[in-house]
Amino acid sequence: MKLELKNWYKILCPRPVVLISTIDTQGISNAAPYSFVMPISCQPAMVGFASGLKRHTLTNIRETKEFILNIPSEEIIDQMWQCAKPYPQGVSEIRETGLSEEKAEKVSVPRIGECIGWIECSLEFEREIGDHVLIVGQVLYSQVRDEWWKDDKYQAIQAKPLLHIGGCEFSIPGWATEPVE
Ligand SMILES: Cc1cc2nc3c(=O)[nH]c(=O)nc-3n(C[C@H](O)[C@H](O)[C@H](O)COP(=O)(O)O)c2cc1C
Repeated sequence: MKLELKNWYKILCPRPVVLISTIDTQGISNAAPYSFVMPISCQPAMVGFASGLKRHTLTNIRETKEFILNIPSEEIIDQMWQCAKPYPQGVSEIRETGLSEEKAEKVSVPRIGECIGWIECSLEFEREIGDHVLIVGQVLYSQVRDEWWKDDKYQAIQAKPLLHIGGCEFSIPGWATEPVE
């Protein structure tokens, strides 16, 4: 099947979902799901994601230069979905959905307590590309729940991170190969 060009990215999936938490200049938190997310550099640690032009997340990052990638599991799929709704500026999706704010290690933004792991970032640079803005962040700190890190490895199958297939369809990792020699 030859795809219409507008559909090209739909076969680049499933993509890991992150809930990006930020704060505005008044210190009010915001959280929104994102799946256009990618590691960019291991050392120095850099991560990138693409944001639509009209997002509170983008406004907050431009103002405060900080954000956290919170990794949600299947258990909080309903709250993740609620966070995608267009809440008014100044209303915290984290509080509205009953998720909890926890103090982060290196940034003023709160992390979301119920998540599997957290990647705390400061804004390195941004660049508008087509209908999105590429945000590149320096990773200042990252942490995963103890139960999901064993033998120096992330236990992704057990942790059940949410993956986005597209639209309202999600998946979780269900199978891993034996290590390839
Ligand atoms: C699973 C999922 C993934 C999403 N990924 C992105 C994304 O990568 N970039 C983006 O701009 N919006 C994405 N969205 C849409 C935003 O989450 C949505 O527009 C949200 O209301 C933005 O909130 P904010 O204005 O508080 O930042 C995604 C939505 C869902 C449900």
